[in-house]
Amino acid sequence: MKKAEMLAVIDAAASKITEVCAGADTVLIAGSGLGGFAERLSDCKSVPYSEIPGFPCSTVPGHAGMWVTGTIGGKRIAVMNGRVHGYEGNGAYELAFPVRVMARMGVKTLIVTNAAGGVNLAFKPGDLMILTDYINFSGMNPLTGANIDEIGPRFPDMSNALTRELIAKAKQAAAEEGLDVREGVYAMMNGPSFESPAEIRMMRILGADAVGMSTVPEIITACHAGIKVLGISCITNMAAGILAESLNHLDVLEIGNRVADRFASWVARIVANIE
Ligand code: HPA
Repeated sequence: MKKAEMLAVIDAAASKITEVCAGADTVLIAGSGLGGFAERLSDCKSVPYSEIPGFPCSTVPGHAGMWVTGTIGGKRIAVMNGRVHGYEGNGAYELAFPVRVMARMGVKTLIVTNAAGGVNLAFKPGDLMILTDYINFSGMNPLTGANIDEIGPRFPDMSNALTRELIAKAKQAAAEEGLDVREGVYAMMNGPSFESPAEIRMMRILGADAVGMSTVPEIITACHAGIKVLGISCITNMAAGILAESLNHLDVLEIGNRVADRFASWVARIVANIE
């Protein structure tokens, strides 16, 4: 697709969302098991992805497919309830699309969440981890293709992709909530198969603390567009080969649900603390 056509579809999506649910300059992308967050908002307005021009729709259980704007902790926030992944067959265009729409809507802050496997042996299922950095092991980059100069530069700097100031705010909010949170490096693999034990050993040697199948495309796209990003992983399981049991998606969803309350109050406080 030509650059001008891409921008026209992105702008059409941005106007559709703004028409239905304007008024939030912070967006939260809710990952697996954290989809219940939108239910905690009041005064909600929503629009299904299927009604937003060009918006990619997810096929994964636990990922609803709805843009919801509402109030929590006295602030307006938008929630992207459900996201698409590379393993569903999406390419750079689809993976970048939602965040580019946010950029054109004037969104300032993105909070991106996910379910992840613990690679760091000190972690345990149910832990919440603030992303301090990422490693892109997915083999793809969401900025592949013609650069949209109206959104950002061809070769964007990723030195501060996970915004220091938001990490500090998230830590402060955790302390206020009496919540013990982790910090670490998130490694993205494409999936959909979970990793092999050898891959997990490799990642630990290379500096990863958690592994998952999402989030990095959104971080890169947001950083390119000048949107500040906070990343949070819910450690739903220890990664492959660490414990004797095998991994499955239902356990991922179950642990996600178990921490949903803690997670939601923490995020509400973070949002309240963002100017
Ligand atoms: N690996 C990759 N993605 C995941 C995992 C995992 O162990 N747990 C939740 N999402």
